[in-house]
Amino acid sequence: MLSDKYDTGLLKKKFSAYFGAEPLLFRSPGRINIIGEHTDYNDGFVLPAAIDKSAYVAISKREDDNIHLASIAFNETYTGKITELRPLKSWTDYVLGVTDQLLKRGMAIGGFNLALDGDIIIGAGLSSSAAVECAVLYALNELFALGLSKMEMVKMAQAAEHTFAGVKCGIMDQFTSVFGKAGHGVQLDCRSLAYEYVPLSMEGIKIVLFNSNVSHSLASSGYNTRRQQCEQGVAWVRKHIPEVRSLRDVSQEMLRQYVLPKDALIYKRCQYVLEENLRLLAACEDLKKGDIAALGQKMFRTHEGLSREYEVSCSELDWLVQYVRNEKEVLGARMMGGGFGGCSINLVKENAVDALVEKVSAQYRQATGLTLDVYAVQIADGTGKIA
Ligand code: GLA
Repeated sequence: MLSDKYDTGLLKKKFSAYFGAEPLLFRSPGRINIIGEHTDYNDGFVLPAAIDKSAYVAISKREDDNIHLASIAFNETYTGKITELRPLKSWTDYVLGVTDQLLKRGMAIGGFNLALDGDIIIGAGLSSSAAVECAVLYALNELFALGLSKMEMVKMAQAAEHTFAGVKCGIMDQFTSVFGKAGHGVQLDCRSLAYEYVPLSMEGIKIVLFNSNVSHSLASSGYNTRRQQCEQGVAWVRKHIPEVRSLRDVSQEMLRQYVLPKDALIYKRCQYVLEENLRLLAACEDLKKGDIAALGQKMFRTHEGLSREYEVSCSELDWLVQYVRNEKEVLGARMMGGGFGGCSINLVKENAVDALVEKVSAQYRQATGLTLDVYAVQIADGTGKIA
């Protein structure tokens, strides 16, 4: 199992070697999501949590108007003028995208040196892009004393993902990276942005991620199409009921009346979202009551919905969830995040984790030819400066 601690001392040293300066250091975490998938951009509910896998940023001011970047993980550098920012379909997009947001809002920033690294896995559905965006924004906010609020930064990071990375994501990932709290999930209403911290203290149960090692890129996947399909469903209902703004305002009856006759596929997509919102609310009650078995069953149902109705799973993730379904030590499991690859999230009885991991890893390799990576994650705090 992978769970080594990230060495910020080394990042500092590498930064100094690249730029010959003393940096400030920041960290922003990735996230898991217990339940509530593909609901955020539909004004629905989510229950994510920040994890102990993060993006790390080292930063210092420059005297000129240039941006000098170094990615430690990719062993690549970038140099450009602050006045000439554009998407390059590379790791630089997450840094330049949030810089662009600051400039669009007329914020007074100058040139900077920035080194980027982390122990978060890229393309595994743990929201590495949001972690980088939030770490960079936090760093720039502090470096240039911009006085941005946490919520402003969340919204700017999300906007950067839309404009530079080309993924029309919801707000869950950036919100969780910034607002995460150790030991807690965040029940977030993505319409009002009201949120509540829910303790994730599940006696004797570990949250274990199985990385299918099917790498996903939401920009090239069906993610944006799913969002459009939901919006199309809303538009059809709205023709008849103008006050409807999003799927949050739509009932099963409205779907049956106005969407089903138009398009069975869009009906299916929208129905999943409606069900998932209701499921999440019930699951939060399960969690508050400590009924993890009931919560786990809802996770299995979410997976079915994501796989059959929303169609954002893949055969490897389906295999992983199907396999653990027959294991009584696993209380719940489902694919997690945007989909099309990445991780499944599993609630596993603590004393059964090792044996299960051994069994699943061997069988997974046999069934798919792929290696399974396993992470037992801890629930961590959101974005912050490292002293
Ligand atoms: C990605 C997006 C999020 C959310 C999830 C699916 O992680 O960035 O906004 O839509 O997919 O729940």
